[in-house]
Amino acid sequence: MSELAVPKTIRWVGGPDGHVELIDQTLLPEILEILTCRDPEAVREAIVSLRIRGAPAIGVAAAMGQVLGVQGDFGGEKAAFDRAFAETRELLAGSRPTAVNLFWALDRMECCYRGHADEPVERIQEALWREALAIRDEDAQMCRSIGEHGHELVPDGAGVLTHCNAGSLATAEYGTALAVLYSAQEHGKSFKVYADETRPLLQGARLTAWELTRAGIDTTVICDNMAAQVMKEGRVQLVITGADRIAANGDVANKIGTYGLAVLAKAHGIPFYVAAPSSTFDLQIPDGTAIPIEYRGQEEVREGFGRVTAPAEANFYSPAFDVTPASLVAAIVTERGVIRPVSGQKIRAFFELSGCNAPKRY
Ligand code: MRU
Repeated sequence: MSELAVPKTIRWVGGPDGHVELIDQTLLPEILEILTCRDPEAVREAIVSLRIRGAPAIGVAAAMGQVLGVQGDFGGEKAAFDRAFAETRELLAGSRPTAVNLFWALDRMECCYRGHADEPVERIQEALWREALAIRDEDAQMCRSIGEHGHELVPDGAGVLTHCNAGSLATAEYGTALAVLYSAQEHGKSFKVYADETRPLLQGARLTAWELTRAGIDTTVICDNMAAQVMKEGRVQLVITGADRIAANGDVANKIGTYGLAVLAKAHGIPFYVAAPSSTFDLQIPDGTAIPIEYRGQEEVREGFGRVTAPAEANFYSPAFDVTPASLVAAIVTERGVIRPVSGQKIRAFFELSGCNAPKRY
């Protein structure tokens, strides 16, 4: 992937009293505009409106929003600082429910705060700022490693189907599912990507196709309901998506439509892979039934393309995510290696063996 390909999804500008800049993803692919957020309310609005979206990127935004919420001079008043920290956390935690990376990042910020609680306010502010930057940098690093571990899953000449956007725009940089493809490209493989458009908000058409074509990857956008036919025609050799939360048994929550794709892949004998960093695993919940699913407003279905596409008298139903059972997932690519087959036992052993603490909530 060339450096020019995709600008940074989110970045911090300045020192502990600085601000956040992020790409407003609601405007892509037509307009590439940077949004400035100077308070946690603006970050929350950006997350709720999907100006920034994708599980890892939401986590980075939440960490930076937490820093914004405790800026300023508290006159040495620890109680006021404490209140501001707690209120900011609550504000950001209520933005979107499904991506566990949001809560993982907020827990990590809280852990950092507790570790510095006895220090003067300015020292705590600086520690929190450094922690948010570390979360961003580590996410970028994890994505690179996911790519390195995953590119072998892409055979030369393959057709690859992906859903929603699990790319650079969904992370600090490089992506998760798309990291595997960028890495395959860097290893000189030739392949073709089919990007599901991903109704209702078209993250596949608007975002995935945007970043893949900028990276010079052969990309074909299809409507979601074309996936079965495209598979039947033999055009797809693997499906790969990201994840918003992975339960202890390997059930995977991801953008609505992912479950259907996994069923189709099974029916056509095509491997279905998931790529995600350890911050997306929630080992505290046993299986997918406990994953909170976000439901979004009816207007996102009723007015899909900037105009009314269904009568107001109809009912609308809009779950933003679904859960794919572990039994349909051929492998999960993480920054520490590939988990295969996908089972609770394997996931436990994997994290024990790799000495990974990250999936635990702090
Ligand atoms: O509603 P979104 O756009 O935030 O949904 C994003 C997805 O479902 C992604 O596939 C997931 O977060 C993985 S991102 C690396």
